[in-house]
Amino acid sequence: MVYSTVSTTTSMPLPMAKDILLFFSLTILVSIFLLSTHFMIKWSRENKKRRKMNLPPGMSLGLPFLGETLAYLKPHKATSIGHFMDHRIKRYGKIYSSNLFGEPTIVSADAGLNRFVLQNEGRWFECSYPKSIGGILGKWSMLVLVGEMHQEMRMISLNFLSAARLRTSLLPEVERQTKLVLRSWQVESPFSAQEEAKKFTFNLMAKNIMSMDQEEAETEKLRLEYITFMKGVVSAPLNFPGTSYHKALKSRSAILKVIERKMDERLRRSYCKGMEERIEEDDLLGWALRQSNFSKEQILDLLLSLLFAGHETSSMALSLAIFFLEGCPEAVEELREEHLRVARQQEKRGQCHLSWEDYKQMEFTQCVINETLRLGNVVRFLHRKVIKDVQYKGIDIPSGWKILPVLAAVHLDPSLYEDPQQFNPWRWQSRSHLGATTPNFMPYGGGPRLCAGFELAKLEIAVFLHHLVLSYRWELAEPDEAIAYPFVDFRKGLPIKVYNIT
Ligand code: HEM
Repeated sequence: MVYSTVSTTTSMPLPMAKDILLFFSLTILVSIFLLSTHFMIKWSRENKKRRKMNLPPGMSLGLPFLGETLAYLKPHKATSIGHFMDHRIKRYGKIYSSNLFGEPTIVSADAGLNRFVLQNEGRWFECSYPKSIGGILGKWSMLVLVGEMHQEMRMISLNFLSAARLRTSLLPEVERQTKLVLRSWQVESPFSAQEEAKKFTFNLMAKNIMSMDQEEAETEKLRLEYITFMKGVVSAPLNFPGTSYHKALKSRSAILKVIERKMDERLRRSYCKGMEERIEEDDLLGWALRQSNFSKEQILDLLLSLLFAGHETSSMALSLAIFFLEGCPEAVEELREEHLRVARQQEKRGQCHLSWEDYKQMEFTQCVINETLRLGNVVRFLHRKVIKDVQYKGIDIPSGWKILPVLAAVHLDPSLYEDPQQFNPWRWQSRSHLGATTPNFMPYGGGPRLCAGFELAKLEIAVFLHHLVLSYRWELAEPDEAIAYPFVDFRKGLPIKVYNIT
């Protein structure tokens, strides 16, 4: 009874409801018909266009939408390019096409094409990272921005990481943080070297970005939030409760709240002191507040993206160096000799901290860093989109396609590096210069988006290795290996045991 009363008072007459239902059904059918016709026409046009083009070989549809993405991303040893890519290169050559991340894609294992793509950023190609990265790092993140806004953010970051600041502020801070980490190690009891490397780079970035000290409880809270955040960056962008992506978005808000509080405090203090007294902290937050007209939201994303870019990569590079060196005692010995020489010079000067000149003496260390990045490939490939039709050595590269310069494939190419799977730092001694981008070596990317922090990364690893080889011997507490998921990670967190050097 209740049901019939409700139904007669709230619903419309039956024939009218039927008409509306019919209208909606027809609308849906017509829309489906129009959409399919639209896609069929587009598909057949694309196909015609493709048939006329000289596209790289290999285009295979694979699974609907996913294409060959799962096979491409299948975890493999970080010191290899994986079975799928190896097979494709043997079959089609160093430049092949595929269907990845739901889009037609050119995959390049060719050093020349990789350079061409990176150097023509903004002209024929544009940075284009998956949605999960943009969603989590924020729409103002430097890693996803293009054009003028990217340039502005990049300038602030480059100024902040300038050679002058590296010498005066960053070197002493890197050394201080290194000593804090190494002093906390317990000899002869296993611990995760990867965790320690992460702590080191995180605390260093937190200090340089927002003057947050490791001793503050808030810094440790932020670091733990950051671990959840990172899991989301590399997950599928599925935003519902329980997913890594959802949890990471929550962590993003928590991290941003901390940064925002710091920013507000800073602004309040400068108002209290009077407008003529500027924000004096020599950290990135201070720089961004002083030197830019960015909105609060933009500054927050800038800080978060620097924390992301500067923390994960260098901690992984450091972990890989510890891992590769453990398997190469001759390299540790040569490294130790080099650092003993540096330490003796320091002693002669009567100083107990590293100078810029000391750092410049660490030539073999630079060979170790280069070899670690060549073999370990912290950043394996980059995401780019083709924005205008272009040709490269007779190959058509159509606009609208994705293109992935695979840095790892060049670094592990046996025609460019003898015995490429071998950790051999000495191979760099014969190379005339050890720049960030030599033609076949681009661990920091290249062109207008060349890593803004590569000099800091090298400094961090060199200073850490200096104190490590002078303080400890180390060995793996149990076997472990670095895996490309495609982000590089150690299966067991790189468990090591250290022993004092007598
Ligand atoms: C061994 C450590 C590192 C490696 C292998 C590395 C690698 C890279 C690569 C390959 C890119 C280019 C991304 C692209 O073109 O799409 C990049 C960009 C970037 N990196 Fe690094 N990086 C490292 C450390 C750092 C550090 C320590 C910082 C900062 C403190 C940093 C800040 C940045 C920034 C801000 C960008 C974006 C540059 C732009 O878009 O203009 N990186 N990095």
